[in-house]
Amino acid sequence: MKKFANMIIDKDFRISRIDKRIYGSFIEHLGRAVYTGIYQPGHPAADENGFRKDVMQLVKELNVPIIRYPGGNFVSSFVWEDSVGPVEQRPKRLELAWRSLETNEIGMNEFAKWTKAVDSEIMMAINLGTRGVADACNLLEYCNHPSGTKYSDLRISHGVKDPLGIKTWCLGNEMDGPWQLGAKTPEEYGRLAQETAKAMKLIDPTIELVSCGSSNTGMPTFPQWEATTLEHTYDYVDFVSLHQYFGNPDNDTEDFLALSMEMDHFIKTVIATCDFVKAKKRGKKDINLSFDEWNVWFHSNAGDNDTMKNRPWQQAPALLEDRYTFEDALLVGLMLITLIKHSDRVRMACLAQLVNVIAPIMTEKDGGAWTQTIYYPYLHASRYGRGIALQPVLNSSKHDTKGYTDVTDVESVAVWNEEAEELTIFAVNRDLKDDIVLTCDIGSFAGYDVVEHLVLECDDLKATNSADAQRVAPKCQSGTTVDGRTVTASLHKASWNVIRLAKR
Ligand code: AHR
Repeated sequence: MKKFANMIIDKDFRISRIDKRIYGSFIEHLGRAVYTGIYQPGHPAADENGFRKDVMQLVKELNVPIIRYPGGNFVSSFVWEDSVGPVEQRPKRLELAWRSLETNEIGMNEFAKWTKAVDSEIMMAINLGTRGVADACNLLEYCNHPSGTKYSDLRISHGVKDPLGIKTWCLGNEMDGPWQLGAKTPEEYGRLAQETAKAMKLIDPTIELVSCGSSNTGMPTFPQWEATTLEHTYDYVDFVSLHQYFGNPDNDTEDFLALSMEMDHFIKTVIATCDFVKAKKRGKKDINLSFDEWNVWFHSNAGDNDTMKNRPWQQAPALLEDRYTFEDALLVGLMLITLIKHSDRVRMACLAQLVNVIAPIMTEKDGGAWTQTIYYPYLHASRYGRGIALQPVLNSSKHDTKGYTDVTDVESVAVWNEEAEELTIFAVNRDLKDDIVLTCDIGSFAGYDVVEHLVLECDDLKATNSADAQRVAPKCQSGTTVDGRTVTASLHKASWNVIRLAKR
């Protein structure tokens, strides 16, 4: 059967103005994310604070609007008081989530300084695994209260006069997961999160709170977890979290590239559950979605289990250092398209993570920083995906995979930057054999013409990048045209495409 993709994009088919925070990311005290990742005093690229300038430069290019911190599973044994004050007095700790040694050399204030230096802001997670309401309140008072109280004055005594002003707070992490320290039943978590949220909003009513959702769609308690916990937290929180990682352990690329449909199903189910709770409570507000961990993660699993089991308590061991393939970048692109398509309710999202740990940016301890395959779709979406998300009317040929039926060969979404008069079409051809011609009616965008067509493609689906070679990097494709009201582009087999148009 002939493969095809026809599309209509119209200024009136608005999904939403995208909240830039959907291009967020995540730094956890895990592996080499912090130590020898963002921070390495003595490295030739380190600044006066020990932060690696080569890493900062790559982060800045991504224009990351918000960064989740300090975990992740790490947060469930995080004692924030250990991470502030004179560095030489900070205790070393057994870090239980990743069975590593935490030196606390980098803590709250250092991370806030780094975040500012990369023009971002913090999404702070609190420990609701092994700690509770009082500790959350103390931390919030330390971070956000101006002065004149025990914890705000403690911050000032640590040399940080101005409040950190952290607006976004996650109420724990993956509290449904048996692997989580202090994991809870939905009832236990719902009550604890409700009481914590209530107290935190008394301290600072301007903050936004994220209630913990399911760790992934495979959790046995999904989606009852969301229904039960939100019944407790609905009045106090603004977001519910979603986490999802995908892998291709069976080497079935067609099935792997269909997994964005699972993400779509996850988002739709959580929206439905939030709206059910709203209706039940006769509520007025929508609970929005914070997809605050998403990525491909599987390459490093076996090695990591071995390290944690047999060589525990190392400082900054190499953990979760997935080497991403070209096909991983395609799925990351598909996941970004899915997030943009749901940008009316997904108002925050974090690519997990940012540096060295399942990351777009890698560092060599004794060398430079370099970019993985997945860096590029993330860069393109963050750079060109700001503005109004437009719902395309897409008619694409389809195929079935082992786990999914009616998988479109082409997946796409468009973003209109009204002010700059720019229109960007993001499209993935996930067919592995054939190029497909995309024709797109852009009749409501009279006078728009092609600026460039960026493409990420590679003959080898398993190609990876390294410190020495960028085998997978974007290039410009010629031949994309606008004729009257129709854009015509060849979407090469297995490719990520960014078709940039602007008013001439
Ligand atoms: O991002 C790695 C880990 O994945 C996080 O610590 C945890 O929240 C999730 O399971």
